Amino acid sequence: MRLRFARAEDGDRLAEIYRPAVAERATSFELAPPTGADMAGRVTRTLARTPWLVAEAAEAPHRVLGYAYASAHKDRAAYQWSVDVSTYVDPSAHRGGVGRALYTTLFEILRLQGFVNAYAGITLPNPASEGFHRAMGFEPVGVYRRVGYKLGDWHDVAWLSLALAEHGADPRPPRPLPEVRKEAEALLASAATAPARDKRVRGPAGGAQAPSTPRS
Ligand SMILES: CC(C)(COP(=O)(O)OP(=O)(O)OC[C@H]1O[C@@H](n2cnc3c(N)ncnc32)[C@H](O)[C@@H]1OP(=O)(O)O)[C@@H](O)C(=O)NCCC(=O)NCCS
Repeated sequence: MRLRFARAEDGDRLAEIYRPAVAERATSFELAPPTGADMAGRVTRTLARTPWLVAEAAEAPHRVLGYAYASAHKDRAAYQWSVDVSTYVDPSAHRGGVGRALYTTLFEILRLQGFVNAYAGITLPNPASEGFHRAMGFEPVGVYRRVGYKLGDWHDVAWLSLALAEHGADPRPPRPLPEVRKEAEALLASAATAPARDKRVRGPAGGAQAPSTPRS
């Protein structure tokens, strides 16, 4: 597996990975699955300030296995150090360390930029996402009860938080991603060369690929 910044050309594959969370479940509160062009637009807009990463198979054709991104938690100025994060991994690659690799490097880049808080909202129940975010160090904030209506039901959303850095006095505004892009590329490259975990990531056909999780 290797990590890189998402590109507009990934749009169709990102839409494919995301689609079940929109069309079949309440994981996402979107009601209509975005198209590849929609996802391409989101990637471009996101990368103007915050990271959007993809994990792809090390072997050609380098199929994208999953993605993770950060976006502003809220627009008002005092929230500028806080981001929301989210990740989606193709079911063929679940429990192979893809989500962990994506979040680990996403958080390194966010720290480099100067962000301090990461938040995740999880539509309940979602044991995989709850277990995953706990494993990544997130702590519960609280639950919005019946905050969204989708697929014939009202749904609770649990919010979790992770402190990315110390809450120091007089923090500098986070630097937009383009300003740190070179250093961030170096983090992505070092993630690719870090020792692999003892795990095997299944490829699109379900066959095992060489263990390649960048870091844990
Ligand atoms: C949640 C999700 C992103 C996890 O990705 P993943 O690549 O399978 O996760 P990883 O293999 O990196 O797991 C890292 C750790 O998270 C925890 N975890 C992952 N999946 C879990 C599950 N199904 N149940 C409990 N804990 C789980 C484990 O502690 C795991 O470490 P381990 O495998 O050494 O035990 C993936 O299940 C997914 O894409 N789900 C559908 C979309 C979704 O719900 N996204 C989150 C939106 S809020």
